[in-house]
Amino acid sequence: MAIEIIGTGKAIPQKRVTNDDLATRIDTSDEWIRSHTGIASRYIADENTACSDLAAEAAKNALAMVAGYTGQDSAERDRAAAQTALSIDLIVIATVTADYFGTPSTACVVQHKIGAVNAAAMDISAACTGFVYGLETAAGLLSVSSKRKRALVLGSEILTKMADWNDRGTCVLFGDGAGAVVLEKTDNSKSGLLQTLLFADGSGYESLIERRGGTRNPFKAGETLEKSIVIEMNGQEVYNFAVKAVTDTINALIKEGGINIDEIARIVPHQANARIVQAAAKRLRIPLEKFYLNIEEYANTSSASIPIALDEMNRKGLLKKGDLILTVGFGGGLTYGGNIIIW
Ligand code: UT7
Repeated sequence: MAIEIIGTGKAIPQKRVTNDDLATRIDTSDEWIRSHTGIASRYIADENTACSDLAAEAAKNALAMVAGYTGQDSAERDRAAAQTALSIDLIVIATVTADYFGTPSTACVVQHKIGAVNAAAMDISAACTGFVYGLETAAGLLSVSSKRKRALVLGSEILTKMADWNDRGTCVLFGDGAGAVVLEKTDNSKSGLLQTLLFADGSGYESLIERRGGTRNPFKAGETLEKSIVIEMNGQEVYNFAVKAVTDTINALIKEGGINIDEIARIVPHQANARIVQAAAKRLRIPLEKFYLNIEEYANTSSASIPIALDEMNRKGLLKKGDLILTVGFGGGLTYGGNIIIW
């Protein structure tokens, strides 16, 4: 038995905002953002777009691919996606920017939007490692039941609505987007999810945090907000953790898999900062070209960054049948981990 990726999709908002655009509103510069992060632009969702809207678009693109449609006509795409949607048994969405606080899950909203009426649906909260966690969760749930054959796994984020636009140290980092894959349980053991490692270090839970709104710090009636609910980050702490997390995860994955790093065709890291990837590549003595980087265009889209990259690579023909692909994620929690996939 194998759990294969049989379709990929992504959704990116239309509005592209460059570093120079940001510099007209915030005390920053293209030079600082590029040199400290590798980011040149990000896409920002409009006021009416929520997490499930991007997720449903990404899902439809992945579902349509399974039905053999990869064109641009949206009516054709929707028809193809609707057929495949009925075959989905499970939807798992990784997100830290859900449509609603607590309940309902964004996955339930997406189930309704795409017509996947036969699917169970739930969200996963593992921040930027969410997609890595989501793949393993879905693969596990497919494996344990003969009734479940297909799952839709997504990372979807509208981070720009949760960014503190008065904190130049964080707001310039984030972008919006969604990525999706369709998983299928097959008898073909030559491809599919080979191995996953998941880690967490809860001692760092305050390094990346949304402090308000939860049961630790709920709003009270009549309270006036000083500022909206925002993501706070200790950049230095997360940076140091991230370089170690990427290095340790890659080392552990190849060791446990009995694989030589030369056998890995591409590494798809969470796109948080190009400098994190460069530092890890140097420590691991892996050529930087092995890492797929698109942070320059999209900035940090948290749980969506890995599936967006996978879809981009897939549609560009960069993923060949039989290639070993390694994903590595890290982020709030603190969480980290990775997958090895035989494409
Ligand atoms: O996806 C979740 C995981 N998140 C991450 O992986 C993020 C990890 N952390 C980082 O990537 C880096 O720590 C940052 C990119 C967030 C910050 O880079 P840094 O090199 O650690 O900068 P810093 O925070 O130490 O700030 C250095 C200077 C400060 O000025 P002074 O005090 O030296 O005068 C900041 O005020 O840069 C200043 N600064 C900026 N200047 C212009 C901070 N943000 C900006 C900005 N534009 N946007």
